[in-house]
Amino acid sequence: MQDQRWPTYAPRNIVLEGAADDHPRGSLRVRAEDGRVFLDAIGGIGCCPIGHAHPAWRDAITQQLGAIAAVANTFWTRPQQQLARRLSELFGIANGQAFLCNSGTEATEAAIKLVVRATGRDTIVAFQRAFHGRTLGAIALTAKPEYRTPYVGTPEDSGDEPRFSQSRVRRLPFNDIEALREVFADEGERIAAVFLEPIQGEGGIFPATKSFLLEARELCSRHGALLGLDEIQSGSGRTGRWTAWQSIVGDDAAPDVIWLAKALGGGFPIGACLARPDLAQHMRPGTHGSTFGGNPLACAAALATLRIIEEEGLLDAAAAQWPTLQRLAAERPIAGVTELRGCGAMLGIQIGPPEEQRAKAVGAALSDAGVLTTVCGGHTLRLLFPYRAGAEELSTVWEAIRGALAS
Ligand SMILES: Cc1ncc(COP(=O)(O)O)c(C=O)c1O
Repeated sequence: MQDQRWPTYAPRNIVLEGAADDHPRGSLRVRAEDGRVFLDAIGGIGCCPIGHAHPAWRDAITQQLGAIAAVANTFWTRPQQQLARRLSELFGIANGQAFLCNSGTEATEAAIKLVVRATGRDTIVAFQRAFHGRTLGAIALTAKPEYRTPYVGTPEDSGDEPRFSQSRVRRLPFNDIEALREVFADEGERIAAVFLEPIQGEGGIFPATKSFLLEARELCSRHGALLGLDEIQSGSGRTGRWTAWQSIVGDDAAPDVIWLAKALGGGFPIGACLARPDLAQHMRPGTHGSTFGGNPLACAAALATLRIIEEEGLLDAAAAQWPTLQRLAAERPIAGVTELRGCGAMLGIQIGPPEEQRAKAVGAALSDAGVLTTVCGGHTLRLLFPYRAGAEELSTVWEAIRGALAS
């Protein structure tokens, strides 16, 4: 098939057409047009927590489709209000208020506007290896110069302090408490927020340490800055709690703003930015908006996804994946796998050396062997399985990696 899309993705030449089976809890496998079946270890890059074509999720969307699919956001719909309430109940920001949108990068943009408005300050602290999206505000926060250039800053100045709009980014090493203390000591009064992924995804699956997160919380509170968490990849139950923050830190401290996408809709596009109510009040009518954001179809999909995750005990299932992978690796080590990193169902398998070419080659060989994954952070295979995947699926991937490295 000729690729008529922009060449923005390196294609694998596999035309996927559907779930491979009609499992009552969602399929873990997908079928290609040519009849091949693949174990989907990347789950739409984290969008499929309940597998593919889950019957209850499908029913919820179909029912909403028969009722109403879109309204002007000046009017309310039940699914929208219910979803906003569920997010504030589950995601660890008491009485949080949600802005609903269609994708991850839009959720990041909403978070940027909110923290700038709420604090009146101009600086956001972000981190090396960070990925927050590809729209022009979000790429300023994203670490990779290849993603930013030539839109935000120039190749020469885009290194550590890209500017966007009236704001600027201060980029620091991740998990470096001293660097964080220093930046607050030097320019604490300018800092609107610290933005971080509690587990860096695109950067290579690097979890934040609990002490780093707590220090960020403390410094933000002391200096009147906000703590914002990009939980687009790590949230919505993937780590065994609704947010990775809850998995790493617990419930004694909370961020001020959290944003989500990917798994939230179970495969249906939706994003959300949840904020403390006093902060949300800064977003007066006209300060932000989205025509499709929070449409009842997407909200019905997200509500069904959250309900299925709860009803099927998928938080516990997700939490079990990381210890299962560690056990597999201890029992059946593979030469060429240099490190495992992860939390719950967010797993990184680092390949090396030589890192980059080898990881890419392994990723391609895995799809030939019937397993779909992608590479992140240059040399790490990323597994973002649906949450109910367990020892059998992880073992299949593990042995496929052994085979790919051997060849
Ligand atoms: C942590 C994080 N932030 C933001 C984004 C951007 O999300 P989207 O591709 O839906 O715009 C991603 C996507 O991979 C992500 O992992």
